[in-house]
Amino acid sequence: MSNTIDNSNCNFEQFEFYQRDFSQEVKLPEKINLEFDYEHALFRNILLTGATGFFGAYLLVDLLEETTANIYCLIRSSSEEQARVRLEDNLKKYGLFARVDFKRIHFVLGDLSQKNFGWKTNLYEDLSNCIDVIYHSGASVVYFRSYTTMKSVNVDGTIEILLFACRNKTKPVHYVSSFSIARSAYYRQKSVIYEEPIYGKGMGIKLGYIQSKWVAESICEQARLRGLPISIYRPGIISGSQKSGVMNHYDFIVRVLLTCVLLQKAPITSTYVHFTPVDYCSKAMVKLSINPNNINRYFHLVNENPILWSDLFKWINAQGYDVEMIPVEDWWAFIATNINSKNLVAPLFMTEKGMRDKVKNWKEIDIFSCKFDCSNVNQGMANDSIECLSVKELLEVYFLYFIKSGMI
Ligand SMILES: NC(=O)c1ccc[n+]([C@@H]2O[C@H](COP(=O)([O-])OP(=O)(O)OC[C@H]3O[C@@H](n4cnc5c(N)ncnc54)[C@H](OP(=O)(O)O)[C@@H]3O)[C@@H](O)[C@H]2O)c1
Repeated sequence: MSNTIDNSNCNFEQFEFYQRDFSQEVKLPEKINLEFDYEHALFRNILLTGATGFFGAYLLVDLLEETTANIYCLIRSSSEEQARVRLEDNLKKYGLFARVDFKRIHFVLGDLSQKNFGWKTNLYEDLSNCIDVIYHSGASVVYFRSYTTMKSVNVDGTIEILLFACRNKTKPVHYVSSFSIARSAYYRQKSVIYEEPIYGKGMGIKLGYIQSKWVAESICEQARLRGLPISIYRPGIISGSQKSGVMNHYDFIVRVLLTCVLLQKAPITSTYVHFTPVDYCSKAMVKLSINPNNINRYFHLVNENPILWSDLFKWINAQGYDVEMIPVEDWWAFIATNINSKNLVAPLFMTEKGMRDKVKNWKEIDIFSCKFDCSNVNQGMANDSIECLSVKELLEVYFLYFIKSGMI
């Protein structure tokens, strides 16, 4: 397989490290090794990262409902009380509060970017003996930032998780990666991406966030090869609940979609939209992870019934909206120059130095024209029926939500 980068639709000089060999960043400390026996099916005490985020909130609820474990939530905060408030507010935001049994939740103040999460030695040692299994969903999910900025949380934070996973006793790790690792040159021109270990050198990815997820997943794969029990889950675009439509308003693709509707212009692109509802992603991840036969595998938590971008806007216009399709480079130039309250993408790049000028010259929307094979997921959940609505069906739910919450 070649790692040749197709530059035809991407002005790579605009992007930091576009041509960098990111396999050089995959450096695993010696200490990450399999030293102790472990039991896959032990779910007494779980460490969960990212519980104050969108996906993490659903993971927390599903872990509580599908296991009897205590859940230790690693949360950035200055006090336990504040951590509780942050977690509660987040659960309320997504309508999940009533489903949570707080007696089983423990608050652990910590920061992924700090050595030992910033914990005192006693706490680190105690928890490394107590925790049986780790769900690592926490990450800095900021679309327009550089790799250098994302590295400490997404890469170094994942190394900290792996170090903790082998301290005093071996703890299986369930790592939330992303389907976007397939943005790298190795996967270009492929029509289907399979649930296999990550390949290539991570070249040809333009965004720092995705570069950091590529490196973090590669580090997990290296640790797996050293014997640590690790499963890797690659969600698609984690979109709103398929029941209520409630979603993360800050999500990049949600903002792109709403901006297109509000400003009545959308880019022409031959990509698919893999909206994958958060409640499906989370339930599937938890069901897969609690079955010991599924450890050490790769899972695509990606909607198997995506929609073509062009069909998405045909559907939107059929609902009575009036969105004009324009060449993708014209759309980015339009977005970079029309900064107003309807342009929900602008706030994401306006805060990043020099990014507005870069965005002006973009020639693609960062989503996929390939499909994602989900055989491991389907096989791993053969006995569980978890519905995942098609993107076409989801649109009905999401547009009702947009209207109800005054977003359009
Ligand atoms: N959203 C998507 O479409 C998508 C798609 C594929 C994969 N993913 C992956 O799914 C996971 C969750 O994403 P999300 O959309 O739920 O993101 P999110 O809503 O931004 O949540 C991120 C979580 O990570 C925590 N976090 C960030 N920096 C931290 C640090 N230094 N120390 C401790 N915790 C930290 C955040 O805590 P604070 O509340 O303190 O900030 C928050 O709880 C991520 O690993 C992401 O890469 C997301």
